[in-house]
Amino acid sequence: MIKLPFFNRKRRIELQPTTLQLENIPNHIAIIMDGNGRWAKKRGLPRIAGHKEGMTTVRRIVKAANRINVKVLTLYAFSKENWKRPQAEVEFLMKLPKEFLTTYLPELIEENVKVQTIGDLEGLPSFTREAVREAMEQTKHNDGLILNFALNYGGRYELVNAVQSMMQDVQEKKLQLDEVDESCISRYLYTEEMADPDLIIRTSGEHRLSNFLLWQSAYAELWFTEVLWPDFDELLFEQAVSDFQNRKRRYGGI
Ligand code: IPE
Ligand code: IPE
Ligand code: MG
Repeated sequence: MIKLPFFNRKRRIELQPTTLQLENIPNHIAIIMDGNGRWAKKRGLPRIAGHKEGMTTVRRIVKAANRINVKVLTLYAFSKENWKRPQAEVEFLMKLPKEFLTTYLPELIEENVKVQTIGDLEGLPSFTREAVREAMEQTKHNDGLILNFALNYGGRYELVNAVQSMMQDVQEKKLQLDEVDESCISRYLYTEEMADPDLIIRTSGEHRLSNFLLWQSAYAELWFTEVLWPDFDELLFEQAVSDFQNRKRRYGGI
């Protein structure tokens, strides 16, 4: 057990640094980064100002996850359903991955972070896809934290895709019907060999998965906070991990 020093940003609620058990850090943490729009609205700003501020939270949380040796950090950045938003907001959101990666790629490389993505990349504008491909290429040999962006991701869409690919492989005799089991299905998902999330965090007070990692979240521990994503910080992240460490995971046993 060690005490991890965390920066004390301006906060309404003062949280004490939590004592984390370093042997029980979740391997895979996934975050539904929600509340950017409400954060901006509260300040009389356009919603996109919240998305921009949310980028700085991403940077903070990547560092915090890396520091405690999380293996995979999956961040829900854009869902298949987010195309329903006003065009101007969608256009702004499409520019964010490029802006984030242009600004922070050197830092990610220095911190040995490996960038990956899940979702329907083909459905993204080419400049977004290129920025992401470039970041994946430049970090592919890094073996530190895997920073996995869920971009144009939908859990049901992912399953539909997987079923189609499996049926095609059966048709082409690359896959036998009796080989289809849970681990086979997992391999056909975007997450492929990646371990399932141990902990799913959602900010902004909403208590739902919003089509995120439906198959993979079967036994994930869920953690919610009222805090909006732009206000989320290292202390709250550490609090979530600490609470995770006090959960009893039974997987149906006793
Ligand atoms: C999360 O914040 C970011 C994305 C979904 C892209 P929202 O934009 O959903 O913010 P709220 O929920 O409207 O406050
Ligand atoms: C989920 O948030 C998607 C992302 C965080 C990218 P939403 O704000 O889109 O979810 P709903 O609409 O409240 O369920
Ligand atoms: Mg939202």
